[in-house]
Amino acid sequence: MLNISVIFLKWYPNFNNSRGYNQLEFALSTESVLKLKTDILVVGIFKGFKYSGSIKAVNDGLKGALANLAEEEGFKGDIGKSLMLSRTFGKIAAKRVLLVGLGEKSELTQNTLRKVGILAIKEIRNISSKAVFSAEFSSSPGYVSALCEGLLLGSYEFKKYKTQNSDESKIKKVIFSSKQIKAKLFAEEIEFAKLIAESTNLARDLVNEPPVYLTPSKLAEIASQVAEEGDLKCEIYDHAEIEKRGMNGLMAVSSGSEEPPRFIHLTYEPRKKTRKSIAIVGKGITFDSGGLCLKPPDSMRTMKMDMGGSAVVLGVMKAVAQIRPQVRVHGLIASSENMTGGKAYKPDDVINAYNGKTIEVINTDAEGRVVLSDALSYAVELKVDEIVDLATLTGACMVGLGSYTAGVMGNDQKLIDKIRKASDLVGEKTWQLPMDDELRAEIDSNVADIKNAGSRMGGAITAAMFLENFVGEVPWAHIDIAGPAFMEKDSSYNPKGGTGFGVRTIIKYLTGK
Ligand code: BES
Ligand code: MN
Ligand code: ZN
Repeated sequence: MLNISVIFLKWYPNFNNSRGYNQLEFALSTESVLKLKTDILVVGIFKGFKYSGSIKAVNDGLKGALANLAEEEGFKGDIGKSLMLSRTFGKIAAKRVLLVGLGEKSELTQNTLRKVGILAIKEIRNISSKAVFSAEFSSSPGYVSALCEGLLLGSYEFKKYKTQNSDESKIKKVIFSSKQIKAKLFAEEIEFAKLIAESTNLARDLVNEPPVYLTPSKLAEIASQVAEEGDLKCEIYDHAEIEKRGMNGLMAVSSGSEEPPRFIHLTYEPRKKTRKSIAIVGKGITFDSGGLCLKPPDSMRTMKMDMGGSAVVLGVMKAVAQIRPQVRVHGLIASSENMTGGKAYKPDDVINAYNGKTIEVINTDAEGRVVLSDALSYAVELKVDEIVDLATLTGACMVGLGSYTAGVMGNDQKLIDKIRKASDLVGEKTWQLPMDDELRAEIDSNVADIKNAGSRMGGAITAAMFLENFVGEVPWAHIDIAGPAFMEKDSSYNPKGGTGFGVRTIIKYLTGK
């Protein structure tokens, strides 16, 4: 007998688990900004600023060089503008000074500081290992945290698959110089900023992972790690269980793929008993080829991001486990690939949905709503008080609102308002689209209860109207993140690739923080 042992080599890269982003260290100092030895001093400037306080001190220390440069360059303190003084000739302890615009003083919000943090870190990351921030903008809670959030979010890069390290970021430490900020508040603010950034960056990493790695089973594995770290309850249904339970949307969509589907249910239980529970539901299509209604190549590329909603759910559950709000939170994910295999579901098929309704398949590329039908009906069975789903659901939503704004729809104006308000506070742009009774006819079916797709007109809205069939009477909001979940290019406030859009909105909505 001849024994041949075969070693299967994977064709995809060998993964290390290094995080793509920087771990910044933060410290507080009461020392004057003139005396802190550092590669760079960052000074925030309000519009129409007067040379007073630390700016005056720095400008005086530099014998007026700062004011001269600002004058010459027409720097006025607008948000998004910055100005570098690249030599200080030993006149102050810092080697360089970066002025960053804070906009109108009366309009300063946490959003401004988050943006300033994102922009500032990009300016300084490659030139210095240590930076000092003059933190005279505000000592009220939330402000330092927002700035640190910005610094951490702005330093994100997905480098896991680069074998050559190009332009390594140098920045390691950021010192805040302030006499007003209390050490205890500072420590809390830093901790919260880290929590938010880590949750967002988890969601970004998941979106950025290639689909060969991030399959539904891998997503489930990562979900169970998040659950274990955060002491959350974790139930994962495999193909057999999904079939047994009659989650037929997932069955249909996954039928064209070799990769088995997963249904993921994480539960956060508050320490004190509570009646109130909320379900956060995510679309987890790890790759959307369109199925038999195959996408053209240009539209197929980037479709690894079609699990963006599920990435938000995991980011949120990670954060909730640490913030521990007084409400039960269910994180639900319906995960599958959408492929073209011989058993693939077809246009004209009829699906017997989890809640008993029937769905006529018009277009296999409208798969997100089909898998969400299971997850939403399942949420209703959990007797939750509110359901919020996040999904990279329609190209139509991007056509309507552009790439930076998510569409919000639903059956309950109060809940929609809560989501909209939360998103405004954290600087994630959302806009409500109307549910239009006249449009509902678009998804009436001749052979079943509903069709899974209407015409191109009002596509984001008819998708939401489809979902509405699966939430019963439960207050529900749907966030279509097709645009902002993924950036093809670096935009001013988002990295290219996965953005983690929605993590901060949902955390704010759930915890008020
Ligand atoms: N995942 C896509 C939506 C999408 C498109 C997200 C572009 C992000 C960027 C979704 O499954 C889809 O294919 N939707 C179709 C629906 C249509 C067939 C009714 C669409 O938007 O074209
Ligand atoms: Mn699709
Ligand atoms: Zn999709």
